[in-house]
Amino acid sequence: MDTAFEMALYEGMAGEKARKGPPDGFPRLPLIPAARYTDPAFLALERKFLWQNVWLYALHVDELPEPGDYRLWDRTGSPIVIVRGKDGAIRAFYNSCSHRGAPLVEKVQGATQGFFCRYHGWTYDLAGNLNSVRELRDFPQFDRSCHGLRKVRCETWGNWVFVNENPDAEPLDRFLGGIVDDWANLGVEHLRHIQSDSFVIDCQVKVLIDAFLETYHLKSIHPNTVDRFLDSRSLFMNLWERGHSMMTTAHRDPEWRDPGARGMPQIEGAEDIFEQNPSYNIFPNLVTPPSRTGMPFLTFWPRDDRSMVVDVHWFGPEGSQGHEMWPTRISNLGRILEEDTQFAPSIQKSVEAKGFEGLNLSYQERRIYAWHMELDRLIGDALPEQLRLEPVLAPWIESH
Ligand code: FES
Ligand SMILES: [Fe+2]
Repeated sequence: MDTAFEMALYEGMAGEKARKGPPDGFPRLPLIPAARYTDPAFLALERKFLWQNVWLYALHVDELPEPGDYRLWDRTGSPIVIVRGKDGAIRAFYNSCSHRGAPLVEKVQGATQGFFCRYHGWTYDLAGNLNSVRELRDFPQFDRSCHGLRKVRCETWGNWVFVNENPDAEPLDRFLGGIVDDWANLGVEHLRHIQSDSFVIDCQVKVLIDAFLETYHLKSIHPNTVDRFLDSRSLFMNLWERGHSMMTTAHRDPEWRDPGARGMPQIEGAEDIFEQNPSYNIFPNLVTPPSRTGMPFLTFWPRDDRSMVVDVHWFGPEGSQGHEMWPTRISNLGRILEEDTQFAPSIQKSVEAKGFEGLNLSYQERRIYAWHMELDRLIGDALPEQLRLEPVLAPWIESH
C-alpha cells in the first residue's frame, strides 16, 4: 500500500472521531426508494445489468488442485462450469451443451477427463473444444470448431478466480484498480484456501449487503462482539469509482489484536494498517477485512427476489493450514454474522410494507448510496425515471 494512502487512513480515522458533523458541503442524501429492494421489475434489471455483467469472485485455485477438477457454480443464475485444464489453466464455460443445451456436468464438483453430454453423446475436451458428434452425417456443413462450449470470462487475482458473464467486460485487474496495489504486500499469490461455508437467508440480497457497508448498527446489533473492540465514531470511508469502497475503523484499545488469530503465522511485510480493520467492498458483493493473518471473503448472492446466499471463504498465509486457532477464528466470525443475519428476514418484511418509502441514509452510511449510484450507472437508460437516484455523491467519489 502506498505510504501516503496508509497515512491518510490513520489521519482520516482521527479526523472522523473529532468531527462535529459531516464535512462542509456534504449533501443530504435523497431517499433510496424501497421499490429498489422489492419491485420484481427493478430486481430483474439488477440481475441483468449487475449480476450478469460484473466481475464476481467464484473460487480459489486450491479448490481445483488437479487438471480435470471442476466446480459447477451457479451464483448468478446461470450454471457455469469452472475447470482446470490439462495445461493447468482455469477456464469457465456455461454448463450447456452446444447441441440442445443439456447440462455437461450435474454434480456440484468432481473430476473428469472431458465433458460428455448424456443426452445425445456429444463430447468436449477440458478446453471446451467439441471433440465428437454422434452421427455427424446428419449435420450437413457442420464445422466442429464453431460449436465448442460457450466461454465465460474467467481471470485471476493472486489465487482468486473471478468470472464475468459480460464478454466485453474490462480486464479484471483494471476493474480492481488500486485495490491490487493496496494489497501488494499481502502476498496474495501465497494465500491458501482454508474453508468455505454457505448460508441461505430470507431477504433480498441488498438488505444484507447494506449491513456490511456501515458501522452505524454496531451498538444495537453487535453490543457484545464488534462494538466492544471497534470505535465506530472513528469510522473513515473511501468511495471509489466502479462502486468499490473501503471503511477503516480504529480499535478502542490501540493494542487490541484479534484473539482468534493468536499465534497464527503472519504475512511478512504487510503494512500496519492491516491490523486496523480495513474492510473493503469489492463491488458489488465481496466484503473482506484483510489482515496479516489472512482474511475471510464474504460474498452475497441473490437466490430469488426474497432470498439470498452468503458464502464465507477463509484464506490464510502459507503454513497456516491446520492451525489450531482456525476453528475459534471461524466461529467468532460466524457469531457476528449470525447477529447480522438473524434480523435480516424481519427487515425484509418491513421494507416491503406499503407505508415504507425508502432508505433515509446518514453521512456515515454513504457507502450504501454510492453502491446504488454504481448500480444506476450499470443499468443506464433501462432504469425507470422514478427509481433513478440523483448522483449527489459524484463529487465525493475518487479514482483509485
Ligand atoms: S444436448 Fe448435448 S448432445 Fe444433445
Ligand atoms: Fe453487522
